[in-house]
Formats: sequence, C-alpha cells, structure tokens
Amino acid sequence: MLRFLSTSPKTTTRIGRTSSSKSAFIGRAIISSSSSNASLRASSSSSSRFCLGKCYTSFSTSKAATVAATTRRSLLSSASPFSATSSFASFPRSNAGETVHSSNESGRRRKRYSIQANAGTPREECMVTTPIYYVNDKPHIGHVYTSTVADIYARYKRLQNMDVFFLTGTDEHGLKVEQSAEKRQIPPQALADENSLVFQEVMKANEISFDDFIRTTDERHTTQVQAFVEKLLKSGDVYLGKFEGWYDEGQEEYYTETKAKECNYESPISGKPMVRMEEENYYFKLSKYESKVKELLATSDSFLTPKERKNELLQRVNDGLNDVPISRTNFTWGIPMPGDEQHVIYVWIDALMNYITAIGMAKDGEAKQKYWPASMHVMAKEISWFHAVIWPAVLMALDLPLPMRVHAHGFWIREGRKMSKSLGNFVDLTVLNKFSTHYGLDGFRYYLATEGPIGAQDANFASSRVQEVYGTDLVNTFGNSTSRTTAMCVKYFDGVLPEKSDDTSKIFKGYDWKSICEKEAAEAVRAYENLELNKATQAAMRIITKVDLFITETEPFRMAKDPNEQENLGAVLYQCLEALRISACILEPILPNKIKEMHAGLPLYANVSDSMGKRLVWGGLKPGTTVSKLALFPRLDPLDENGEIMKEEAQAPATSNKPAKKSKTKVEKVYSPETQAKIDAQGALIRSMKESGKTNDDAEVAEAVKILKELKA
Ligand code: MSP
Repeated sequence: MLRFLSTSPKTTTRIGRTSSSKSAFIGRAIISSSSSNASLRASSSSSSRFCLGKCYTSFSTSKAATVAATTRRSLLSSASPFSATSSFASFPRSNAGETVHSSNESGRRRKRYSIQANAGTPREECMVTTPIYYVNDKPHIGHVYTSTVADIYARYKRLQNMDVFFLTGTDEHGLKVEQSAEKRQIPPQALADENSLVFQEVMKANEISFDDFIRTTDERHTTQVQAFVEKLLKSGDVYLGKFEGWYDEGQEEYYTETKAKECNYESPISGKPMVRMEEENYYFKLSKYESKVKELLATSDSFLTPKERKNELLQRVNDGLNDVPISRTNFTWGIPMPGDEQHVIYVWIDALMNYITAIGMAKDGEAKQKYWPASMHVMAKEISWFHAVIWPAVLMALDLPLPMRVHAHGFWIREGRKMSKSLGNFVDLTVLNKFSTHYGLDGFRYYLATEGPIGAQDANFASSRVQEVYGTDLVNTFGNSTSRTTAMCVKYFDGVLPEKSDDTSKIFKGYDWKSICEKEAAEAVRAYENLELNKATQAAMRIITKVDLFITETEPFRMAKDPNEQENLGAVLYQCLEALRISACILEPILPNKIKEMHAGLPLYANVSDSMGKRLVWGGLKPGTTVSKLALFPRLDPLDENGEIMKEEAQAPATSNKPAKKSKTKVEKVYSPETQAKIDAQGALIRSMKESGKTNDDAEVAEAVKILKELKA
C-alpha cells in the first residue's frame, strides 16, 4: 500500500524557560581629572565613522564562489513509484540568496573600526573564543556549555575548510584569587596553577578542540598587556585621574551619586552602608568612544547577538558612558601598570586583552596575527557589557579592528532558579561527568546543543529532558533509522550498494530526496552560521524522520520478495542511506565521535579534507560501497538529577495514594520484522508531529494514528 503523506515535523521542543539576568557593573566615575584634557565627553561629531558594509551571510567554504542552488521538486506521479526527474544544484545557497564572495584579506585590514563581520566577507581565517574562566571557581555546566557551543562552531568552521584558531583559557588575576590563596596560605600563582590545570583537564575531557589555552599569568600575556596599556597612555586614552564615589565594600563596586542615593547609600546586596571613597586611578577614556559604540550597537544586527542583548546594552549606553578606572591599588595580584607599579591593571582590561595577546598582536612578525579580528566571541549574557561596550572601545583606542560577532547566550538554571554557590545547586563536574559517561560525550553534547540557553532565554537543566532528547532524537530517530537501513543493505545486498542504485531518475512521488536534502542542508548551514544549534539538528532530524516514512511507504521488505523489484529496492536503500549520510554530515560538529563511528560502517565522505559543502551534496555515496550494520545509540536507563541511575520504581509515573490496582499481565504482541519496522517508523512520526506542537486533534496526527492502529491490528 502506497500512501502519500507530507509532513515536516519538528523533532525537538524547548521546555519552560525563565529569564534572569545578572548585570555587570563598572563603576561610573565622577572625575576630577588630573590629565590636561578636561573634556571627558566625546564629541559626537567624530571624524572616523563606522563603515558598515553590506550584510552578507557567509556560510560556505571561503573558496566557494557563487553557487546557485536550483531546487526543483518533482511531484511526478506515474504508475510506478519512480519517475524521471531533472538535475539538482551542487551547493546550498544562503537563505537571503546573497552572492558569496571569495576572501578579501587586504579589504579586511584596510578599514579601521569597520565591522568586518557585518560585511560578512568569507575568509580563510576564523578565530573563535570562549571567555577565559576565573580560577577561583570550580568548572561547572556553564563553563562546559559555553566551551561546547564554541567547539561546535569551531568544528563547523573547520569542516568548511577554514583556518580556525580556537582560543580558551583562564583568568587568573584579581583580589578574589589573592584572597582565596591567602586563605589556603599558598601563593596566588600556586592557586592559579592548580585551578587552571583543572580547567584544562575538563576541556580536554570534554573534547573541546581548542588550539590554544591562554593564562593571564603567562609571560606572553603580561608583557603584551603592558605594551598595549603603554600605547593607550601615550595616546592619552588612559590617564591618571581621581575618582570619588560611593563604594560597596562587599561587592567591590562603585556607585554613582544618583544610584547610591536611590539605594539610600546602602549596599543593595548586603544592606551595609556604602563608604565614600576617593581613589587615584588610571582611567580609560570610554566617554570618547561613546558615539562610536552607540553607532556600532545601533546599526549592526550581527555584532552583538541575540538581538535582545543589543537592546539591553543600547539602553545602558544611551544613559551615557563615563570613563572607567582601569587600575587598582588595593591589592597586588595583577599586572603592574607600566611606569607606576603601585597600581595593577584592572582585571577586566587584563582579561579582555587575552584575545589579542594569544595571537601576538603586540609583537612584531607574529604569524597568528592573521586571525584577528575574531569571528566569534562566545559567552553568557552577564559579561556582554564588557565584550560589546568596553572591548570595542579599547580596540578602537588601540586602532585595531573589532571582533565580528559577540554572542552572549542565556544561563543554565536549575528548577527555575539561578545556579549559585549559596544555593549549592550547580550542575557540577561530578554530576556532569556522570551524565557524559552514561549518555556518552556526544549524547550529552547533543542535549546541551539542542536544549541549552543559546538564545536570550535561560534554560532549565533537567535530567528527564536529557533522557527524552537522547531517546527521541538519537535512539529512536537517528540510531533506529541508521540501524534499519544498514541492516537491510546487509540483508538484501550482502552489504554492498548495488550497481546503478544511485540512478537519479528514480524518484518516488513526494520524495525528491536531492531537493529535500538540499533544502535541509541549506537550513542547517544557515542555522550553524547563526549559532541556532537546535535548528541545525532539527534539519537533520526532519530528513531522518522522512527516511522512516519513506521506508513505510515504499516497503522495501515487500520489494525484497519480488525479483522484478530488485532495482527499485536498490534505489530505495540508496536513497535512505544517502539521506542518512547527509543528516550525519549535518550533525558532525555536534556528534563528532558518533559520526566517526558511523563513517566506519557507512562511508560519509571520500576524503577527510572534503569540505562540509562538498559532503552535503547529494550523490556522495557510490554504488559498490560496502556498508555494515550500525548500532550507534544504545537504549539507556534514565538518570536522576544527581546523575545516578534511577531505580525502576522511580521511573514509573507518579501515583496517587490509592492502593495499586492488581496488575493485569500484559501480553506483548509479536509482529513480523517488517511490521515492527513500520510500527516503529509510524510511532517516530507521530512523536515528532507532537513535538512540533501538533495534537491528536490535528488531521495529520489523526491520520498517522489511524495508520499505526491498522498496522498494530
Ligand atoms: N573571567 C571572566 C571572563 C573574562 S573573558 C575576557 C568570567 N569568568 S567566569 O569564570 O565567571 O565565566 C563566565 C562565563 O562562564 C559565562 O560568561 C559563561 O560563558 C559561563 N557560565 C558561567 N555560568 C553559566 C551558567 N549558569 N549558564 C551558562 N553559562 C555560564 O566571567
């Protein structure tokens, strides 16, 4: 029986998100400047304006020239399920249909302050960064998450054959580190060494594919930070000034008169009285760059993402930017101010500069300088102010190009509450390790990628969702479909794809696979570019669900019994395997190990150096290829919130106080392998429809349920 069913179900859903935001604050200074320049406000008639280029989405390998993708969908019907069709395009095009330009290095360097990212010119180099993590904290899900997101992006860019430099590291200076070390009666450097090593090990254990790990106590960093600050001193962008303001000792924060008054001169956190402080400090002339930063945020949609962040920051910038103190004298654990060693450089200036010291931007003839400007700084929202306001201003003052994109995602929260030391509700390393050991590194990465707070919203960590996402997408969809189709290839063709099975003229009505895969591949690439990781996975899952439906409709097990249907059987299996190959190539940045495992049973590309663009082109599998049966994702017991395997009683749905009904012995019906396969596919289809928000009242779902009942009857 051949039925035409058309659907594009979504396979993952998000669950309740609440938002919380921790705003970072750099004390607003009331300046009585000792520098000659009393005018601290920048004139808005600044001569060097931003040069915002036309916005392109760069999604291809940098070498790819303009490629047209003509999507032609054949809906030919004929007596045979197969009919002839026409050609297909070789490479997906960006959603906006822009021309993709080749790399233009000289153009990149020419424009000062230009937001090259926004000009979107694809290029050879791609620098991806995570924040550098504080060594006085223990690694937890937040750190692993941001690093995983950056890792996925870096892997994706490497698959596009870009020259990727992926940087991470540790932030090791500051009062808190000094105090923690004092408590333990060890030198701060010893504490930093110990904890930096923990972060390095965690990153390695999670297979974060960083190219460099920078530490702010590295000599290569400290000397260059001093060189940059010296440059700023010379240009007058850093000057010695007197700061007077209200200080919250507990929070180590300065407040403006207005804000302090609003709080009744008491700390909004501890309630303790604020202290009137006067401090001589070095200041960075942030005010000078106010109009440029405002323009940057206001005119670019891609410099700071998600867009909600942009609106938040613009509001703050519109309140005015005051100069910021960038040195401290109340502790010594930091980089000394050049020429005035009583001061140490403020930890945020020290930390932000890691992005340029790691690639030797203050050195002569350093080859890694080619990676600047960074393509992508990934972090969470609490530090977007530093990265999207302070950092661009510092770079402008240093006369360096601006990063192309700052992505500030939301927070992982737990049971609706922010994770914090005082609540003790972190998903800490021990728990994280239990999840990644149980579900496999890739299984857990998949959960982080699909359910994580990549956008503006926070995301709740829930063990039940880890189990659901793993079971639905990886076991029942990807794993099941791969194992069925490879098993059929082994059973019906001794594991060798038959001659001419790739015949492009054989198209089953409603299943123009070239077009389907091309469309989904383009969507996945678009999603990766935008860091919409869940959407990239959904594109792959849509293909896989469709493969299951295709099997249900074409009934290869029936064809296998009919000697006249052997060619069609070969074509059906080829199309299933080729569609699965493309789905796997889409998922590779997220599931690097599983995809390697899959490649051993079903070759996914001819050469490891083939770009993602090439891999995503229909027809990669060749007749004659040997295929072996794959079992990628085992079924697993659920874990509880602490990562312990749940006892069976706990797995059952919650019951009331009523005495349990006598259980009836349920006799499991046994179906033939063919029927069971159809039932599985139909079940997967219904699940995915429901996950995309449809209910039993939808005609499509009702029809699918009816078919399932018929199959089971
Ligand atoms: N040292 C600074 C960053 C300097 S970068 C020039 C810092 N370090 S941190 O150790 O506190 O790391 C903060 C980052 O860790 C966040 O921006 C985010 O990337 C990650 N996360 C920490 N907690 C998080 C969550 N609860 N959820 C998601 N990510 C979070 O700030």
